[in-house]
Amino acid sequence: MEFEELVKQRRSIRGYKQTPVPKEVILEIVELAIAAPSSMNTQPWHLHVVTGEPLDRIRQGNTELMMAGAKPQREIAAHGAYEGVHRERQVEIAYQLFDAMGIRDDKIMRKDWMMRGFRQFDAPVSIVVTYDRALDMATIGHFDLGAITYGLCLAAWDRGLGTVINGQGIMQSGVVREHANIPEDEVIMTCVAMGYPADEFAANDVRSTRVPPTEVATFIGFD
Ligand SMILES: Cc1cc2nc3c(=O)[nH]c(=O)nc-3n(C[C@H](O)[C@H](O)[C@H](O)COP(=O)(O)O)c2cc1C
Repeated sequence: MEFEELVKQRRSIRGYKQTPVPKEVILEIVELAIAAPSSMNTQPWHLHVVTGEPLDRIRQGNTELMMAGAKPQREIAAHGAYEGVHRERQVEIAYQLFDAMGIRDDKIMRKDWMMRGFRQFDAPVSIVVTYDRALDMATIGHFDLGAITYGLCLAAWDRGLGTVINGQGIMQSGVVREHANIPEDEVIMTCVAMGYPADEFAANDVRSTRVPPTEVATFIGFD
C-alpha cells in the first residue's frame, strides 16, 4: 500500500473476527515496528503478544474488577479528567462511535461498550507494550513507545489487520502483568488489540476528525 493511502485509511478497529492471527504475520509486523526511532537508539520497548487462554484470563480478570467498581491501577502516571478542547475532542469521538452503534441514548449499551475495552475488544490478540523500568522517572521512554506503537498499527493495517491502542485494557495492570507474565523490571505502558476487522461492525467505519494542519503547525521564518 502507498504510504499516504496507508496513513489515511488506517483507523481504530473495535470489532474483530475470531480468526486467529498467525504468529509469522505478527513477527513481520513487529519487524517493521521496531524500525521506529528511539532516544539514542536505546530501544527501551518490549512487546508481549498474548492470545488464547491467557488473553481470556486477562479479559475475565479485568471484567471482574471493573464490574466490582475497583479503582484503576495503571503503572503509568494518570492525568485528571480532560478539560477544554481535549474534553470536546474526547466527547466528539465518543458520540461518533455511539451514534454509529446506535447506543448514544442507551445507558446499558454504553456501559456494555465500555466493558468491551476491558475485554480487549474481544480481539484474538492483545499486544502489551512495556518499557524498561530503569527509565521509569523519565518521559523519553514514553515517547519511544508511541513511535513503536504507531508503527505496529500501520504495519498491521498494511497486512489487512486492524488495531486499536487500548488504554482501558491496562487499567487493571496487575491482572495484565499476572496473566501476560510481565517481568518486574518492565513497566506496562499500554496494550494494542489486534485482529481481522469484523465486516458488519459499524464503529469500524468511524473516521475521527483532526485539527487542520494549519492550526497544528506554526511556521516561523517563511515568507
Ligand atoms: C494512548 C491511547 C490510548 C487509547 N485508549 C483507547 C481506549 O481505551 N478505548 C478506545 O476505544 N480507544 C482508545 N484509543 C484510540 C483513540 O480513541 C483513537 O486513536 C482516536 O480516537 C483517533 O482515532 P483513529 O485511531 O481511528 O484515527 C487510544 C489511543 C491512544 C493513542
